[in-house]
Amino acid sequence: MTCSRTLIRWALLVFLSLLSVQGAVQAKDAPATQEAASTQRVEHPVPLTAEERELSRQSFKRIAEVLRHPRCMNCHTVTEFPRQGDSRRRHQQLVMRGAANKGAPTMQCANCHQAANSQDGRVPGAPHWQLAPLSMAWEHLKTDKALCETFVDKSKNGDRDAEKIVEHLTHDPLVQWAWTPGERKPPAIGQQDFHLLVRQWARLGAACPRS
Ligand code: HEC
Ligand code: HEC
Repeated sequence: MTCSRTLIRWALLVFLSLLSVQGAVQAKDAPATQEAASTQRVEHPVPLTAEERELSRQSFKRIAEVLRHPRCMNCHTVTEFPRQGDSRRRHQQLVMRGAANKGAPTMQCANCHQAANSQDGRVPGAPHWQLAPLSMAWEHLKTDKALCETFVDKSKNGDRDAEKIVEHLTHDPLVQWAWTPGERKPPAIGQQDFHLLVRQWARLGAACPRS
């Protein structure tokens, strides 16, 4: 009795873990070259199945949870100023975007934001701290579809294909800062899980959600 119940529970666990994103990542252990070749436009060496493209769309939905997190969105604003905190209020001290997204001439981001967080964790810091350009603003994009389409649009995203987007998301210091944000809270999805999701999204076709 107990034995068969344990067996059922075990089988259920295996089934659930196969369904999970982690499981799918391990199951689909494609080489890096294949990963590099996957964009929406470049033809994939092995055609992707409908299930794989659907998994790519689902991965983006989870990626979007991070993109919408205050740690990211406070810099990807559509406004003439950065935002701060989880309430995403306007940045204090009348800090402005400025012509080069680095602040007004007399109030440059780098005056206060150093290459690392201040020791007490209050003032955020990472190399080249500045606002994302307006073409990379996301806060006004309500659906995951709209967010994704802007995110992959080379005319807006700094001419990045899927491979370069993956590179940015897994290496750029401003992105990585979100998981060592001093006294603030990081996104709910962990840094390594986020990297896995991003790679999986690209490898399975860098697809955008339908809504
Ligand atoms: C301190 C401000 C800042 C923070 C915090 C920040 N970004 Fe950015 N982001 C930028 C800047 C500046 C650029 C433009 C860099 C470039 O084009 O070389 C950028 C560009 C990007 C791009 C490439 C453009 C695109 O649309 O594909 C992605 C992706 C991105 N950021 C993701 C994130 C994610 C995810 C987070 C949070 C985990 C984040 N950023 C946090 C400032 C920031
Ligand atoms: C006069 C100093 C000063 C200047 C100039 C300044 N900042 Fe800040 N910034 C701060 C301080 C201090 C904080 C922390 C405030 C807090 O959390 O209470 C902060 C917080 C932030 C945050 C919030 C991070 C988060 O997720 O909560 C962002 C984003 C930010 N600054 C971006 C910028 C950008 C971009 C510029 C240039 C356009 C800039 N700052 C210029 C002092 C400054």
